[in-house]
Amino acid sequence: MRVFVVGGAGYIGSHVCKTLLAAGHDVMVYDNLSTGLATNLRPESGFVLADVHDGVRLRAELDAFRADAVIHLAASKAAGESMTDPAKYAWNNISGSVELIDACLDCGVGLFLLSSSAAVYGDPVRLPIDETHPTNPANFYGFTKLEIERTLGWMSRLGKMHFAALRYFNAAGYDVDGELCGLERNPANLLPVIMETAVGIRPSMTVFGNDYPTADGTCVRDYIHVSDLASAHRLALEWIDAEKKDLTVNLGSGHGYSVLEMVKAAERIVGHGFDWSIGPRREGDPSELYACAAKAKELLGWEARHSDLETLLKTTHAAYLKNL
Ligand SMILES: NC(=O)c1ccc[n+]([C@@H]2O[C@H](COP(=O)([O-])OP(=O)(O)OC[C@H]3O[C@@H](n4cnc5c(N)ncnc54)[C@H](O)[C@@H]3O)[C@@H](O)[C@H]2O)c1
Repeated sequence: MRVFVVGGAGYIGSHVCKTLLAAGHDVMVYDNLSTGLATNLRPESGFVLADVHDGVRLRAELDAFRADAVIHLAASKAAGESMTDPAKYAWNNISGSVELIDACLDCGVGLFLLSSSAAVYGDPVRLPIDETHPTNPANFYGFTKLEIERTLGWMSRLGKMHFAALRYFNAAGYDVDGELCGLERNPANLLPVIMETAVGIRPSMTVFGNDYPTADGTCVRDYIHVSDLASAHRLALEWIDAEKKDLTVNLGSGHGYSVLEMVKAAERIVGHGFDWSIGPRREGDPSELYACAAKAKELLGWEARHSDLETLLKTTHAAYLKNL
């Protein structure tokens, strides 16, 4: 297939491109490099440096590439920032997606994969979270993803395209082959924060709360290795193409690790202690979040293979060492 990957120079997108190319698909990356890196681009893929809001350029490039499918990863993704600067998220995530969907309709691209998020669910009312869990985003970022999913739902209902909404849990780790190691810019997620502290980029880090109703008192999250995410994109794309149906699916490991488990495992893997301390809880953090990953297994034959604690931390450590 000829796959047009918007946001393909980013952290997850670069891993997706590598997997698509390895499976024999043709790839064109379209990215404004606002957070992505030119060094993440693969020599075998094409690249267009442009913004998703540039509808004229989008249409020209989709036509020139004769795209069969679009994978849309371009977005602003910091949940906290989305609450203080919602207009930025409405513009980049909602408006940008509408522009891209419109361009796909004009250019006859009938397959669309969206990077969605577990943030569409909001605070869990039951665990594990399966795809029938109510959607009630607790932050504006999650709302933007749900709005895009719903718009795609209507496009499908109107016979315009088929789509897959891939609801990622916490993406983590780096390329299991060690080839892709462009570090995320200004990361806010736990693993990069742990690793930045472990290698001395940050002087110290805080664990937010140790009085949650979990085994060790710290929050539990579902971390999905980025190489596992990448293989799920390929399978989902091939599935919606073959089945001519839509797909809304969780991408998680189905297993949670606590913050303290992560910190202690990191100390073991890097081979020394680092400066971390327990601080107060952060507002709005649910105690536990983890996916039911059964639907992805049943429909796509996909399951997490690299999302164990060791692989998550070792591949992250290796990427940081390469960049020091
Ligand atoms: N990282 C996670 O844990 C996580 C979890 C759930 C969902 N997601 C979603 O996955 C997607 C990719 O996330 P990531 O972690 O790789 O982030 P990232 O910031 O590394 O990647 C986003 C890419 O999109 C590009 N981009 C952003 N706005 C653009 C625009 N207006 N025009 C063109 N290109 C633009 C950036 O330059 C970057 O290359 C995002 O949609 C994000 O919301 C990420």
